[in-house]
Amino acid sequence: MDRNKINELIETAEKARQKSYAPYSGFTVGAALLCDDGSIYEGVNIENASYPVGICAERAAFSAAVSDGKRNFSAIAIVGGHAGKSADEPCYPCGICRQFMSELCGGDICVISAASTEKYSLNTLSELLPFAFEL
Ligand code: THU
Repeated sequence: MDRNKINELIETAEKARQKSYAPYSGFTVGAALLCDDGSIYEGVNIENASYPVGICAERAAFSAAVSDGKRNFSAIAIVGGHAGKSADEPCYPCGICRQFMSELCGGDICVISAASTEKYSLNTLSELLPFAFEL
């Protein structure tokens, strides 16, 4: 994937992260989802006093895109870390988000797990979730 596009997605995810609502964990996450048509949708984690009700940034981004009629995706960048601080380590998607993405994308989507534009790793979804469950 083009380095400029990777940087743009990471920067978009990092900026989105500031809008996270994470009063319980204090761990803020932003995601930037690139659609095949070039559009980018943002998502953040949104927590809830009833903890399992909260949603991750990745699923929030997909919810925005799918609700807007998008069904074809090429990459997603994720940046997460403690609120008010720069991310230290690449933020990999949780297991639920991996399964959620596999339903909508197949295994080829590029997952950019990032701390910054200087520190990130690139994986296909099938590397992160081999043998995905399907019906
Ligand atoms: N979180 C995400 O938004 N994405 C992930 O892939 C991992 C976890 C959120 C959920 C929760 O609000 C916080 O990070 C701490 O688990």
